[in-house]
This record gives sequence, structure tokens and C-alpha cells, in this order.
Amino acid sequence: MKRNTMIMSIAALTIAAVIVESCVSTKVTDKSGSQLWSENCQRCHNTPPSSAFTDPEWSVINMHMRQRAMLTDEEYKKISAFMQQGE
Ligand code: HEC
Repeated sequence: MKRNTMIMSIAALTIAAVIVESCVSTKVTDKSGSQLWSENCQRCHNTPPSSAFTDPEWSVINMHMRQRAMLTDEEYKKISAFMQQGE
């Protein structure tokens, strides 16, 4: 009886961990460029508006800042697209 309870709680914990993990990764992929931008780029400094630089300038800046912010490829692409849509 006791052993069963133990196995059940381990199973429940494993299922909970899997659910939490899948939620987290879905959230990251669902994030928009503007969301990623405000979460990542303003950690270290105030970020100038996208109109402050031209698209080619943003490409260079974002390549540098990608390394600083340790962004994934996907996050980097989304942020770049957001910065270059010219708001
Ligand atoms: C880990 C800290 C850090 C993060 C995160 C970060 N930056 Fe920076 N950023 C810096 C530092 C330090 C400088 C100044 C030195 C430099 O230009 O390399 C800077 C400079 C800049 C500049 C000024 C460039 C210029 O020529 O005036 C811009 C624009 C910029 N960052 C944009 C961004 C964007 C967009 C992101 C998000 C993708 C970002 N930063 C994320 C640290 C960071």
C-alpha cells in the first residue's frame, strides 16, 4: 500500500514536470518580437526606438546585442523583424 502511494506521487510529479516544461517552451515560441525585445533588450539599457537606426544598422547592432543578451536564433530573428518593421 505504502509503496503504491510512493509510485503514484512520483508519477504525479513526473507528469506535472512535463506539463510545466511544455508550457514554458510553448510560451517562448509564442512570444512576439516586441515582447522579446522589451524583455531582453531593456535589461541592460534603455533601448532607442526602431526609428533611431536604419535597417542595416539594426542588423549590426542586433548581431552584437544578440550575443550580449544570449538570444536563441529564433528570438534574434523575431526581435530583428520587429525592429525593422519601421514603427
Ligand atoms: C547584457 C547586456 C545587454 C543586453 C541584454 C543588450 N545590450 Fe545593447 N548594449 C549593451 C552595452 C554594454 C552597450 C554599449 C557598448 C556597445 O555598443 O557594445 C550596448 C549598446 C546598444 C546600442 C547602442 C549602439 C550605438 O551605436 O549607439 C543599441 C541600439 C543596443 N545596445 C540595442 C540593444 C538591443 C536591440 C538589444 C536586444 C536584442 C540589446 N541591446 C541587449 C549591453 C546589452
